[in-house]
Amino acid sequence: RERRSPVPQTVLVTGGAGFIGSHTCVELLRSGHEVVVLDDHSNSSPEALERVAKIAGRPIAAAHTADVRDRRALDAVFASHPIDAVIHFAAKKAVGESVRIPLTYYDINVGGTTALVSAMHDHGVHRLVFSSSCSVYGDTTIVPLTEESPVAPTNPYATTKLTCERILADLCRHVPALRVLALRYFNPVGAHSSGLLGEDPHGVPNNIMPFLTQVAVGRREELSVFGDDFPTPDGTGIRDYVHVVDVAEGHREALDHLDDEPGMRVFNLGTGHGASVLDLVQTFEEVSGQPIPYRVTERRPGDVAELVADPARVAAAWGWTARRDLAAMCRDAWNFQQHNPYGYAP
Ligand code: NAD
Ligand code: WQD
Repeated sequence: RERRSPVPQTVLVTGGAGFIGSHTCVELLRSGHEVVVLDDHSNSSPEALERVAKIAGRPIAAAHTADVRDRRALDAVFASHPIDAVIHFAAKKAVGESVRIPLTYYDINVGGTTALVSAMHDHGVHRLVFSSSCSVYGDTTIVPLTEESPVAPTNPYATTKLTCERILADLCRHVPALRVLALRYFNPVGAHSSGLLGEDPHGVPNNIMPFLTQVAVGRREELSVFGDDFPTPDGTGIRDYVHVVDVAEGHREALDHLDDEPGMRVFNLGTGHGASVLDLVQTFEEVSGQPIPYRVTERRPGDVAELVADPARVAAAWGWTARRDLAAMCRDAWNFQQHNPYGYAP
C-alpha cells in the first residue's frame, strides 16, 4: 500500500521517536512528506529516528528535543519550518501510573495539547491529527464500539484523552479554518518488519505484547494472565490488537483526508476482530516457536472483559482497513525483540 501522497506536506510529529510515532515517520517519509519531530525522549530513544531514516532511505528534516508544553520551543519550531500539518502523539500513556500521578497526566497530556494548538493558531497552522484512545469508551459492554458509543473514561489517562477531544471540538466550533482528526486507537502492537523499529518501553512493560516478547527472549520468567473469569469464551480479556504499521498507514492517509470536511471528526482505528489473552499467547507460540510460560493471576483493577472496534466509519471515509493479522503482529514484535533484546539500548 506504499504510494506517494498526492500533496507532499511538511509535517510536525510530536512524540515522533515513540512507538507509534516512529512507525508513522517511516510511512510519511516514504510517501514524500517532510518530517519534523519534536520529542523530549522521556519515553523514547533518539536512536529510533536514526532507524527511521535507515528504513525510509532518507532522513527527517529536523529533530527538536523539547517538551511539547514549552511554548518558546514550539514557537521556534513553527518559525523555522513551513509546517502544513501536525500529528500530535506526545503524551504519557500508562493507565496505572495516571491513577497515582493524575496531575502530571493532566499537565502533559492536556497542557501539552493546549500549548500545541495555541502555537499552531499563532503560526497560522490549522490542520491536526490527534492521538486518542479506545480507553475513552471505558467500562463498556458494547461490542463492537462505534464512534457514537457512549464515552465514560475510568482513569485519569482516559480522561485526558477525552478532555483533549472536547477542547479540540470546542476550538473547531470557534475557529472555522481548523481541521482536526481524532483517531481512537484500540491496541496497537507489532513492529516494523525490518526488525529495526518496535516497542521499547522503559521499565516493566504495562502492556501485554512487550511483556510477552520479553518473556520469550528470556528477560522475564513468565507472563501473568490477569484473570480467567471474565464473561468471554476462554475467560480471559478480549482486545482488538491492531498492527502498528497499519496504524502508521492510517496516519499517512489521515493527512490526505484532513481537508475532506471542516471541523473535528473522530475515527476508530482497529481491526474489528477480538483476540483473548490466550489466543494471543497461542498465536505468539505458534509463530515464534517459543513456549510462553504463564500463570493466571488476579484481574488487574479497571480491566474490562472485551473492547473491540467497529472500524466501518474510517473504511467508508478513506478506505482504510487494517490488513495485518494477529500472526503478523506476533511475528514482527518477536523479530524486533530477537534483534534488539534490550531495545534501543546500546
Ligand atoms: P510512546 O510513549 O512510545 O510515545 C510517546 C512519545 O512522546 C515518546 O517518544 C515520548 O518521549 C514523547 N513524549 C512524552 N511526553 C512528552 C512531552 N511532554 N514533550 C515531548 N515529547 C513527549 O507511546 P505510543 O504508544 O507511541 O503512543 C503515542 C500516542 O498514542 C500517545 O498519545 C498515546 O496516548 C496514544 N495511544 C497509544 C496507544 C497504545 O496502546 N500504544 C493506544 C491508544 C492511544
Ligand atoms: C491487554 C490484555 C489485560 C498485561 C491499554 C490502555 C488503553 C490503550 C491500549 C492507550 C488485557 C491482559 C496485560 C499482562 C495480561 N492505550 N494482560 N497480562 O489494558 O487493553 O489497553 O493499552 O491509549 O488505553 O488501557 O492493554 O496490553 O495492558 O492489556 O493478562 O501482563 O492483556 O488484562 O486483557 P489494555 P494491555
